[in-house]
Amino acid sequence: VTAPAAGLLFQLDRLDRQLLTLYALGRPLTDRAWLIASDLDTPAGVAALPADTLARLHALAERRLKGEPVAYLVGEKEFFGLAFEVNADVLVPRPETELLVSCGLQAVVALQAAWMLAERFSATVLDLGTGSGAVPVALAVQARQQGLNVRVFASDLSDAALAVARRNAQRHAVGVDFRQGAWFEPWVDADGQPMAFDVILSNPPYVVAGDPHLAGLRHEPTLALVGGGADGLGDVRTIVGQAARQLRPGGCLALEHGHNQGAAIARLLRDAGFTQVQTMEDTAGLGRITRGRWG
Ligand SMILES: C[S@@+](CC[C@H](N)C(=O)[O-])C[C@H]1O[C@@H](n2cnc3c(N)ncnc32)[C@H](O)[C@@H]1O
Repeated sequence: VTAPAAGLLFQLDRLDRQLLTLYALGRPLTDRAWLIASDLDTPAGVAALPADTLARLHALAERRLKGEPVAYLVGEKEFFGLAFEVNADVLVPRPETELLVSCGLQAVVALQAAWMLAERFSATVLDLGTGSGAVPVALAVQARQQGLNVRVFASDLSDAALAVARRNAQRHAVGVDFRQGAWFEPWVDADGQPMAFDVILSNPPYVVAGDPHLAGLRHEPTLALVGGGADGLGDVRTIVGQAARQLRPGGCLALEHGHNQGAAIARLLRDAGFTQVQTMEDTAGLGRITRGRWG
């Protein structure tokens, strides 16, 4: 077992290899410095591990080489500096989506500054298509740290995803009102009237069915990836079309999207009556979030 296990492991990217090794050893995934100091980042060091650990590593490396995301193999992904449970029922949270959280926080800060005179201090934030719950949980943790007064709501069509999201909220000790249903469907009050929010965030599915990139994402839920319509924007159209009656005047809608979809989404927002429409770039300079102001 020894030589092939180490060999297979060293075909992986360094970070993946380190995370899988820490996981196989039952160490915290943040212990990368320990791993290097213990000579477990070299083929010779790994080859000297006990046979049962090597067998576990071999199996993990094989699955990783077949394309399974490392986050599913270790059951965890870091997002906004926090560890989130993930499994194959949820999309692995991406670094780009941290921008959606920042955008939500900025909107809350701006609203609360404007409300100082009116003595209204609590903002409501809704995340649609929450998956692992990374967006609402990271936002709620940040709000707590920054002393911002927010009430956070989140929904998903997938019950299995919501189970993961609820555990992540518990793990980080934040209160999020989670509900199941299609887009705005769960967000009505006791009289069946649309509930009103100050900030609505969403990273909806937006990949076009048949896009060749889907082959590399085959382990993640299709429901999380493929947007309706020939342009992948079917779900975005549904959200934009219904958002107006769920936003308070002065509220904000922010949507994550593919790097080539910003102009189309900006047009959808303007056509629906949103103002101050703006596409924001990620760290690679690609437009990934488009937001607009309602009223
Ligand atoms: C791109 S994933 C985003 C997950 C998470 N917000 C993130 O950024 O990591 C899209 C999410 O939308 C959910 N979804 C797909 N269709 C939906 C629908 N019709 N109504 C509500 N949620 C839906 C999927 O289950 C999935 O969790």
